Amino acid sequence: MKNILIIGSLGQLGSEIATRLRQLYGDSHVVLTDIRNDVNTDLIQGGPFHVVDCRDGERLSELVSRYKIDTIYHLAAILSATAEKNPLKAWDVNMNGLMTALEIAREHHCALFTPSSIGAFGPTTPKKFTPQDTVQRPTSIYGVTKVAGELLCDYYHHKYDVDTRGVRYPGIISNMTPPGGGTTDYAVEIYYAALESHHYECFLQGDTYLDMMYMPDAVNAAIQIMEADPRMLRHRNAFNVAAMSFSPEEQAAYIRTHIPDFTISYRIDPVKQAIADSWPDSLEDYAARVEWGWKPSYDLASMTADMLKTIGQRMQKQGGTTR
Ligand code: NAD
Ligand code: SER
Repeated sequence: MKNILIIGSLGQLGSEIATRLRQLYGDSHVVLTDIRNDVNTDLIQGGPFHVVDCRDGERLSELVSRYKIDTIYHLAAILSATAEKNPLKAWDVNMNGLMTALEIAREHHCALFTPSSIGAFGPTTPKKFTPQDTVQRPTSIYGVTKVAGELLCDYYHHKYDVDTRGVRYPGIISNMTPPGGGTTDYAVEIYYAALESHHYECFLQGDTYLDMMYMPDAVNAAIQIMEADPRMLRHRNAFNVAAMSFSPEEQAAYIRTHIPDFTISYRIDPVKQAIADSWPDSLEDYAARVEWGWKPSYDLASMTADMLKTIGQRMQKQGGTTR
């Protein structure tokens, strides 16, 4: 990787992948794009940034030529809960955005990273230790776009030799940029609520298990897979990556080890609950470990300690608010 383009760079994952890539490769070598420019001013001002719709192939192609881009991180997407409210828009952004990125990667000989998700699985997938290669019949529109995306990326690799690579991220937990409308957003909100009011009203049932990952591990996964020796990759789109699996009740119990009077109550969102119920409880990630050395650093205990410490410090500096 020498010159990198990030599409959808201001979101939860993009903002932190962009920060790390700029530290590694230099500000001027990491070109950021997004459809918005009203958040993350430091990133926007810290190097090249352009407002571009991910479906605008002409503009993106011009940027790839201008900055001599060799690697693209395609992160623009509509996440699961938001997608369910507007399936046509989700299909348009997720599929036509990806197709645009694939065509540019083919024409300009770029490597392409695209994340898939635990959302690419469905109710007929084995729920525990979900294997790398298994049944994928998702019931959410988000999941449908993720499976189609995995297949498209593999197709471009086999047919055109485009260097496409991806991981199936679980729910990502972070403290820099808020999550963008997913079913797993509760697992981030709970830490802010714990510090602000010692109480959280959760939109999923307390015994709903889902895979999760702390952002530093998610950023490592994206960069590590793009730097992996291609001769070692038997899979490409997309690798299961796992770090921890927990329920809201368990997460609340870990928060109580820091904030003993923390309480959790439940007001179930039926759409989000149905999506969560259709996803695996926990993934098996042997292929990622063997083919490119994937190994997470954080578990629920260490992530909880770090989230509460980091948000708490920010809260003190800001005089009592966390955001
Ligand atoms: P996000 O919603 O936080 O960020 C997406 C970014 O894309 C936003 O900055 C948004 O402005 C931008 N965007 C939306 N529509 C666009 C368009 N038409 N053109 C250009 N930019 C557009 O999402 P995220 O959490 O950063 O997710 C990034 C990728 O990772 C997505 O493919 C998502 O499906 C995948 N993923 C995320 C998670 C998670 O928990 N965050 C888990 C699994 C997979
Ligand atoms: N966290 C994401 C979502 O809930 C999973 O892809 O949509």
